[in-house]
Amino acid sequence: MLISAEQIRARVSELAQQINRDMAGKNPLFLVMLNGAFMFAADLLKQINIPCEISFVKYASYCGTQSSGRLNKLIGLKESLRDRCIVILEDIVDSGLTMSRLLDEIKAKKPAELHVATCALKPEALNSELELDYVGFSLPNVFLVGYGLDYGGYGRNLEAIYELKS
Ligand code: IMP
Ligand code: MG
Repeated sequence: MLISAEQIRARVSELAQQINRDMAGKNPLFLVMLNGAFMFAADLLKQINIPCEISFVKYASYCGTQSSGRLNKLIGLKESLRDRCIVILEDIVDSGLTMSRLLDEIKAKKPAELHVATCALKPEALNSELELDYVGFSLPNVFLVGYGLDYGGYGRNLEAIYELKS
């Protein structure tokens, strides 16, 4: 085990308190990136005590085509992001490619503020310049499962974070 459920609980509480302070009066809209961020988001948002809205979004991925360039379509986004304070909730930033594409996509919708909270980051794998406002854990560059992170669809429900050993 890399990060225990107890460590996650403690860190998520710290992040929530920070976000409560930073976002007070801003009526933030949290955008939960499915599937991976579901557990982080549920735990974090229970401890958010300022007025806020929550929406769930997902990428439509078209296998085979369009493998590079723009992000594939965001599905589930009904709210207007214009002039809103947006906080993206993500499970993990690895190379950073997904997040930088997502940020471009969202910036185009003209929010007033755009922030990112990610449960985990692999600093050694990161190869784009990203501003990440809230990072739960900086982890080694290994394959992880648990707490929303999956291996072939499995393991998301685990309450701790594990290194996948082959
Ligand atoms: P990136 O574009 O390289 O930053 O990778 C982003 C996505 O890959 C994340 O949102 C995860 O869904 C997935 N991912 C990256 N690293 C891991 C891992 O260690 N375990 C499970 N999924 C991962
Ligand atoms: Mg993900």
